Amino acid sequence: MTQANRPSNKSVIGQPVDRVDGRAKVTGGARYAAEFPVNNIVHAVFITSMIAKGTIQSIDTQVAEKMLGVLKILTHRNIPKLAQIPKFTPNSTGMSFAPMQGNEIHYSGQPIGIVIAETLEQATDAAQQVQVSYQSQPSIATMHQALDQAYQPNSIMGGGIPGYTKRGNPVQALAEAPVQIKETYTIANNHHNPMEPCAAIAFWEGDQLTLNASTQGVTRTQTNVANMLGIPKASVRVVSPFVGGGFGCKSVDFTHDVFAAIAARSVRRPVKLVVTREQMYTAVGYREEQTLQLNIGATRDGHLTAISHTKTSPTSPFDDWAEPSGKAIEMFYQCPNFEATYKLVRVNTMTPTFMRAPGETPGMYALECAMDELAYKLNIDPIELRLRNHANVDPSTGYSWSSKSLKQCYARGAELFGWSRRNPQPRSMREGRYLVGIGMASATYPVYPPGSTSVRERLFADGRVLVQSGTQDIGTGTYTIATQVAADVLGVPIERVRFELGDTTLPVAPNSGGATTASTVSSGVYTVAQALRRQVLQLAIQDPASPLHNATEGAIAVENGRLFLKDNSARGETYSTLLTRLKRSQVDAIGTWQPGIQGSASQAENPAGRRQNQGEKKYSSHSFGAKFCEVQIDPDLGRLRVTRLLGIQAAGRILNPKTARSQIIGGMIMGVGQALMEDTHIDEHFARYTNANLGEYHIPVQADIPDIQVEFIDEEDPHINVLGVKGVGELAIVGTSAAIANAIYHATGKRIRDLPITPNKLL
Ligand code: MOS
Repeated sequence: MTQANRPSNKSVIGQPVDRVDGRAKVTGGARYAAEFPVNNIVHAVFITSMIAKGTIQSIDTQVAEKMLGVLKILTHRNIPKLAQIPKFTPNSTGMSFAPMQGNEIHYSGQPIGIVIAETLEQATDAAQQVQVSYQSQPSIATMHQALDQAYQPNSIMGGGIPGYTKRGNPVQALAEAPVQIKETYTIANNHHNPMEPCAAIAFWEGDQLTLNASTQGVTRTQTNVANMLGIPKASVRVVSPFVGGGFGCKSVDFTHDVFAAIAARSVRRPVKLVVTREQMYTAVGYREEQTLQLNIGATRDGHLTAISHTKTSPTSPFDDWAEPSGKAIEMFYQCPNFEATYKLVRVNTMTPTFMRAPGETPGMYALECAMDELAYKLNIDPIELRLRNHANVDPSTGYSWSSKSLKQCYARGAELFGWSRRNPQPRSMREGRYLVGIGMASATYPVYPPGSTSVRERLFADGRVLVQSGTQDIGTGTYTIATQVAADVLGVPIERVRFELGDTTLPVAPNSGGATTASTVSSGVYTVAQALRRQVLQLAIQDPASPLHNATEGAIAVENGRLFLKDNSARGETYSTLLTRLKRSQVDAIGTWQPGIQGSASQAENPAGRRQNQGEKKYSSHSFGAKFCEVQIDPDLGRLRVTRLLGIQAAGRILNPKTARSQIIGGMIMGVGQALMEDTHIDEHFARYTNANLGEYHIPVQADIPDIQVEFIDEEDPHINVLGVKGVGELAIVGTSAAIANAIYHATGKRIRDLPITPNKLL
């Protein structure tokens, strides 16, 4: 970051501003996908398969079709076929398969029909009356039923990395290592349960489709829906101003949105299709169950010499999916020898998909538990062991870090959590009759290369500012941080800025995935606001009637909507006075922040882009952090409470500590769920999820969550993007489950390597 680009001390950037959309959210003014009022709307529901593998023999809709309110029933026999079957690609479609294109069944819960009726109740009722007979074939429910069929893919989806990677000579180094840890860690199936399920309202006006969807990428959904329908992209408008959580299940497209569009076209009415909570388990992908084998070799003083990681996990009949658990293991510690192997087993499920920090979450769970085991084996303090293996450059690439403040995270975390008061001996600390344990783990998440981001900004003659970009706010705070950035550059109070997003009619911005939204949107908004500011300054400078006539741009400041000379603040005028006198109703700027492209409009504001172009030194860029956890466990009942949680993060510039803190809290709660509760059960005979609801698929509730402490380490990163923002949404969860598992070991002396750690495992 150049000096000129650094927000001033007075900047609203970096302030804990309340969510600008907060009032709308708590008063119901914020409209989610299924809540748009649309005249003449009808309702669609999915009929889903009762079997996991086989074919539909017959499907009898006669009774259902005659039921009150029923308009149409679509099945594979009469549904218009998709023009293009989706093919899995990251940030695009989530599965290389579309239901209802034929009579074959590949997973239980697969949509096999759509009932469209005047009311939701009528549609739901009629769906029950559709008679389906199947030709069932033997299915595979879990990878454990077919481990002998495990294969190593050429590359894994979800990471786009090879099925095997290595550096050095891990086999030999491991064999020669004087100290070895060889353990297997497991994670249960975790399913997506965003508060807002997937939902769409689709309506056609002639050949023009409007889709109110719940998506982490309006442009992506527009493209995929258009491709699947075989119509021009310009014929599809996707609107998604509020998203009730995405976490990855809305960062790729599955087929519910396109089926809503097809249903609407077939009845020539607007259609609302809300995926039920139960159907969420089979409408979008999930975090796959996985076995994470980790073999670590070290010297007696705790220096890592070899890491060998093998992940075994289930995938669908269609895709070679695995979340890349080895990626974080490969780059986190200084270690000359490394290998990662992925093994997949085809089972009858959907293709698993991205879920918060896909890859880093399981990888750091296994690695940070193994490091805790190594610390005990060597009698070295767990934090000291981590410091001994701290990677000063990225061992996976050899590149320097663009910035790294991990040591500060450890130090500050230890201080805040009272690490020095921890008796390292397992089962040594008590609170009354409860065993007390304290554990920690590291966290990291990559800073992905930003996508180009277009923004339009408009200053009105009354001094208000409208900022527009086709990005998304998936609950993270995009509205708020973009407002802060524009207000800062343009020198207006945040109340005067209105930010609009979530609509394909707005300038195009990237998908909201991989913790990239804060960095791309802040870069785009900043860049275009600079251009708008310069335009307005020039209007004043060139106007003989302005008190700023003939001043230089650099001599002018803007505060509270007023332009004035820095060294003579009495000489100035407001935006309103200037524009009104010039009879300008507005001044517009539209532009694109394009990282790394020479000659782009944004070049002047983009030191990162210039640096990349000059082929200078390459950097590896990650956010880092540490999680600390305290548990209390009833030794007789196995009842466990998380009593304290702390997350310390270093993630570049924090645009808004309040919304960022909220991200970290949410991620850590999700980590508590993974560590202690979340586990989708499968009936092994029917290959069907048996707890596909929030009553039996346990997630943390208020009473499960202690006071959570969150801190950010100040960190400037001059290499990544305009404001040096790394993003925090995915980092938030990483390390939480390891910190909890390590605290449980410290409390009980029992090493449970199998998530979730439910009370029965503690007895
Ligand atoms: Mo994130 S798992 O890329 O939404």
